[in-house]
Amino acid sequence: MPATQAQTERRNAARGSLLGIEYLPLSEINALLQLARKMNPLKPRPLLKGKRVFLLFYEASTRTRTSFEIAAKALGATTTVVLSSGSSVEKGESLLDTGYTLRAVGADVIVVRHPHSGAPHLMAQYLDIPVINAGDGMHEHPTQALLDAYTILRHKKKLTGLQVTIVGDVYHSRVARSAIHLFSKSGARITLCGPPELVPDVAATLVNGIRISRSCEEAIRGADIVMVLRVQRERLAGLKVNLSDYISRYQITMARLRLAKSDALLMHPGPIIRGLELTWDVADCPQSVIVEEVKNGVPLRMAVLARALGRAR
Ligand code: NCD
Repeated sequence: MPATQAQTERRNAARGSLLGIEYLPLSEINALLQLARKMNPLKPRPLLKGKRVFLLFYEASTRTRTSFEIAAKALGATTTVVLSSGSSVEKGESLLDTGYTLRAVGADVIVVRHPHSGAPHLMAQYLDIPVINAGDGMHEHPTQALLDAYTILRHKKKLTGLQVTIVGDVYHSRVARSAIHLFSKSGARITLCGPPELVPDVAATLVNGIRISRSCEEAIRGADIVMVLRVQRERLAGLKVNLSDYISRYQITMARLRLAKSDALLMHPGPIIRGLELTWDVADCPQSVIVEEVKNGVPLRMAVLARALGRAR
């Protein structure tokens, strides 16, 4: 009988890979969050001395790539960045052949971002080293969900019972998919909000108990966390989204944000497009933890890399 996706992911997780949140047990999530608390990029720990971390990026990235690089260096590893443009990928080399090449030159762990869902899973299946998913297509972005949970826990005692409202382009968002799995496992209540093209009804079947609202006001009222997502125009391909209509109905303004709890956190994985999914003043308001999310990406990714190479201390 062929292995199920859950079995495959669990087997890969046991080898140190981090492919997604969906099949990651809550105990592992909590262990990573706890380990991240011990990591301080300003106080380097040589846990990965002599190890080589390869960052293989087939898509644009600022936050994820730099924070993985800083995290690896803070643990004493060396880093090599391979971008699809300028590498043999441009000559038609396959993903697996690129993986075998990086392994042959000494990679101990590969962090990969790819436009196709499942790309890191394929690499993890064929390579004998841990693979970390830094975002695969419209599927998952596990380290973003973990750093968001880490950020929330610095402000709130626990995730259980929190009302989390996610507004925007859920359909194209790997960040949303990983976040939904993590929040659901942790006992938070989740409301998704946006137009049907960006938040299809089927999104409600992702996990139990999820709610969809077409009214931004209703979705934000009383929320503890308002997570805003970018409209991923590069992935819209054929979908017709009227942006001025989107702005008038779903843009997060201060007036809309005030409907949330007074101590609510305003989150966004970035990159933010000011004036589209949120206004300028919302991006910089005291409730905004957007910059903090970026900052927290470093200790969190230190924890992920240490765990990947069995140095989770
Ligand atoms: C996101 C991504 O690439 O999935 N950014 C990130 O990694 N922080 C979200 C996006 O591109 O909108």
